[in-house]
This record gives sequence, C-alpha cells and structure tokens, in this order.
Amino acid sequence: MCGIVGYIGTKQAYPILINGLHRLEYRGYDSAGVALLNDKSLNVYKAKGKVSDLEEAAKDKDCGGVLGIAHTRWATHGEPSVTNAHPHESESGNLALVHNGIIENYAILREQLQAKGYHFQSATDTEVLVQLIEYYENKHQCDIISAVRYALNKVIGAYAIVLIDKRQPKTLIAARKSSPLVIGIGNEENTEFFIASDASPIAEYTSHVVYIDDEQIVKIELGKEMEISTLQAEHVDVDVTEIDVDLNMLDKGGFPHFMLKEIFDQPKCLEDCMRGRLEAMDKRLKIEPENIQYGINLSAVKQYRAQLMNAHRFIIVACGTSWHAGLIGKQLFETFCKIPVQVEYASEFRYRKPVIKEDDVVFAISQSGETADTLAAIELARSKGAFVFGIVNAVGSSIARNSNTGTYIHVGPEIGVASTKAFTGQLTVLTMLALTLGHEKGFLSDADFSHYTEELSKIPSMISKVLKQNEKIAEIAKTFTYAHNFLYLGRGWNFPVALEGALKLKEISYIHAEGYPAAEMKHGPIALIDADMPVLFVATHHQEYQKIVSNMEEVKARGGRIIAVVTEGDEQVSEIADQVIEVPQTLNFLAPLLSVIPLQMLAYHVAVLKGLNVDMPRNLAKSVTVE
Ligand code: F6R
Repeated sequence: MCGIVGYIGTKQAYPILINGLHRLEYRGYDSAGVALLNDKSLNVYKAKGKVSDLEEAAKDKDCGGVLGIAHTRWATHGEPSVTNAHPHESESGNLALVHNGIIENYAILREQLQAKGYHFQSATDTEVLVQLIEYYENKHQCDIISAVRYALNKVIGAYAIVLIDKRQPKTLIAARKSSPLVIGIGNEENTEFFIASDASPIAEYTSHVVYIDDEQIVKIELGKEMEISTLQAEHVDVDVTEIDVDLNMLDKGGFPHFMLKEIFDQPKCLEDCMRGRLEAMDKRLKIEPENIQYGINLSAVKQYRAQLMNAHRFIIVACGTSWHAGLIGKQLFETFCKIPVQVEYASEFRYRKPVIKEDDVVFAISQSGETADTLAAIELARSKGAFVFGIVNAVGSSIARNSNTGTYIHVGPEIGVASTKAFTGQLTVLTMLALTLGHEKGFLSDADFSHYTEELSKIPSMISKVLKQNEKIAEIAKTFTYAHNFLYLGRGWNFPVALEGALKLKEISYIHAEGYPAAEMKHGPIALIDADMPVLFVATHHQEYQKIVSNMEEVKARGGRIIAVVTEGDEQVSEIADQVIEVPQTLNFLAPLLSVIPLQMLAYHVAVLKGLNVDMPRNLAKSVTVE
C-alpha cells in the first residue's frame, strides 16, 4: 500500500527520497510523486506508474533542496493518475502533503471547503486534508502545528501524513493514526532526519529510530530536538529505539526477483528464527547455547507463562497467508497442548460480536505487523481483557507494539508481495510455541519433546534439498501455464498448505486456483475435473496417505492431470500422478514446512513464464494498512 518517505538535513533530498521510494516499491502502488523545497521554490513532480516514471518526469527539472517528501500511491479514492498522485498542495500553494490511509468523512469536508471557496484538483481524500489544514490556519490565524491539530481533530479515519510548509524551509511536520510512521535520526545530532512508512528506506542511513504512536503530531526542525505532542496538545517524550536491519535482505542478491530470493533464503531465515531459541539448532550451528532451558527458549513464554498456561482457549487472528499459518497453528496447539483453538479471519472477527474472555489468549499473526484488520482485531481483544500474543516479522510494527507480548519470526524484511519466508517463519514460531507449552503442560514426554525439537532443527537443511529441484519445477511449470483453473488438494496438516499453494498461484500468475481438503472434492469440485483442470495434491506420507491416494484415483478416472508433492521414495503416488515433486521425510506436523516450498516455486515459475510482474502483482499491496 501507499509508501511515504521524507528527508530534511544537509544532503540533497531528491536522491535519498527516490532511493527510499524504490525501497518501498514492494508495498504495491500505481503512481508516485515528490515535493522538494529549496530557496527558490516548492517543486512538485508526479507520475502515473512506477518510480522510474517519476524519475523520468523529474529529469531536467529543478530537483535541488535539502528538504522533501515523497510518496507511492495505491489508489483508494480516485483512479491512478498524475492528478491523484501525492503530494497534494493547498489552495495557496504554501503546503504540500503526503498521506497514507483513508479519510472517511472527506466528502462532507470537501463540500464544506468548496462552499468556502476552496478548489480541488484531484478526487482524493488527501487533498481535503491539506486544504483543511490551510483553512484552519487562516481561520484561527495560528501556527501550522495548531492548524494540523485542528484539522486532525476534525477528520475521521486513518492517516500517516508528512507536511511541508513553503514558509518554513527547516521544518517537517508529521502525524499518524492507525497507519505507521517511523522517524530516523541521523548520526549527527539534530542535523538530519528521515521519515518513512516503514524502516526499510531509513535503515541504510541510521539505526536510531522513533516510532510515532497513534494521534501524535511531530515537529522536526533542523538544529532542534524533535517535538512530539498529542492531538490534545500534550507533550510526549521522544523514545529512541535501535533497529537492526540486515541490508542484504533489502537487495535481490543476484536473483531475478525478490520472491525467488526469499524462497531461497528460507533455510537461512529459519535458522535465524530458531537461533538462540532452539537448543538443537544452536548445537547444529555450533554456537554455544545461551541459557537455553528445556530445549526451547522463548522469552515471551518465560515471562508470561501464567497467561499462556492458564488460558482456556486460544484464538488466532490473521489474514491471507498468515491465516493459513494460523490453521496449522491450530492443529499444533490442539495436538500438543490439548487446548481448544479458534482461527479467525481478522476482518470478520472485528465486526462480529465474538465472545472473548479474560482467560483467552489471542495470537495475532502478521508479517507486516501493520494489517489494519488484524490490528483492529487485537484492539477488540484487548478491550475485552484478553491477553494478546503477537507473531510478527516487522520489528517495532503496530501489531508488535500493541500486543501484550510476542515472538518475532526474525526472517528479515520480506519484499516480494507474495509471502513465502514469512509463512515458514510463522510456522516455525508456532511449532516452537506449541512444543514448549505442550511439554510444560505435561502432554509431551521429555523423550518426544527432544526428538521433535531435534527434527525441527533439521528443517532448514531439508528445505535446501527441496530447493535443488528448482529447475525440475520450472520444467513442470511449462506444462501448466495454459491452465485457467487449478485445484489444490491436501488433508490434515497439508490442507492449509493446499490453501496456501492456491493463494500463491492466483496472486502472482492470475490463474484461478482453489484449495480444498481432498475429501471435500466429492462434495462439489469434482464436477470441474477434466483434462484442462490440473489438480495438485499435497500427498506426503502421513496418516491419511491412503485416503489421498484414493482421491487421486478419483481424479485420474475423470481424465484430470495430477501434480503431486510426495515424500522421497514414494512409489504409489508416482504411479498415478503425471508429475511428482519429492520432499524429504519428516514428522507429520513438520511436513507443511517442506511441502509448501515446491508450491511457492511452482507459482513463481508459472508467473515468470507468463511474463508477469512477480514481485508486484497487479492490484495487490504488501502491507494492507486500510480495511
Ligand atoms: C499472500 C499475502 C497476503 C498477506 C496478508 C496478511 O502472499 O502476502 O495474503 O498474508 O495480507 O498480511 P500480514 O501477514 O502482513 O498481516
């Protein structure tokens, strides 16, 4: 979704802003723009399309200035166009503003402003906001911070904004509500500041950041300490945090696409996720285990043992791929901790009247940590007294900060819009959690617990083995680019994997794909099966193996074409399926960590063969910060 970058300092702002916009491209967008302030003028350049189109539009123009704001827009109000792209300017041309989020009461405000003589160029809600700030400045003859405060108290909705005032060439103003904003503090005191909607455009310049909280306004003035205040004009202390972003994770590292790199990064990412937490992994990595007790060391579990052990129910809230991880989490918690678990789409949960109790633990799973629905779901859960546990990738994100506690998945920034390494990272954390709690509760013997943790530590090297089949999977993909529909079937632990495989394919290849529990096929989807409908079975060895073989026979009998993901050495399925991809043998509950990998690769290769934009599929956004 929309991305924001801002800079004020001693260097030229334009290259820093453009670099930042490129870093934010992964979020998904359809137009881009920049506003630069120098002694002579406020210059605004915009383009429909990519950041490279913006660079083209700004070529040969005056791009000087040490202060600027920039934006990538993902259209909500008004089509993608130059006019609707941000920054938007006020009537007088004094103010320029970039905005993420949605102003819900923009239509009425717009009418009121029009009645007072304000003119609008765009169809956006953002232009209403910048005009409203100017209106209050004129009405109350006040300073710009007060005008921003008046305006933000009037709007309903979500926003992260950054504002330039032409008359104040040393000042940037920012504010947020329900949409993230982070400020980077340059290495020399008060001489350089960066602003962005996430840390990725900032990380290469500084590791010192300040996360702005909801309903806070920030004034950044060169040569001065930054000032933060609330919408009620109360002072807020500045809380500087240190971030640690591996810059290599922000680059493609020789791969043609971020998605492929992130698929291939999974062995290393899962090692990182388990390092210092899983004793068996530390031994494998030959690092001295640090105070690891009982084989798994999750600080949140130690600290909040009572809440987790005494819970009567777990509720998992998430969206998309993270919801699929939640379905596997349910099976893990039920199997090892014998606790009832509900898995909820955050978007549905927040608007139902769910029964939430004080002894419920709500797990929020999110890669970005900014998904608006998941954030709202945990706010609802907390308001009812439930304990919220975040399983998040983006460090310092809103969901991480609004949870009572949590465990980061630590797989590094995920740039490709289609989630890959975050999914396996989420599964790894869920597995460590379920094994720890199951063992603590006495449902897992010491012997089983240590066997299971040992097997979990082998997963990264097993994934490396699966990745070696990349070329074979690329070949298989060639056979299936013709398809308009695809069915993904799996049972038990592999049913959510089937859902995830189907989601990957539709997201990036635009082929309609459905995931189903294999046994449900007879209750409807079997009607669709013919020679034009490839069916992918996730059929690794587990207790329902024979049943899934029967489901395959049913497809074969109707002329369907079968691709199967099987366990190494499998003979029975290989007899029936047209194409087979092998994954190493592991324990049942760990199978999804391996069986999902070929499905990620298959989706990737089909999309590449179709010539599609794998990392930024149409209409999709990486971080869904609006509902
Ligand atoms: C699919 C995908 C989305 C996200 C969903 C939730 O590849 O990326 O379905 O999983 O938008 O996002 P997070 O995990 O950031 O809350």
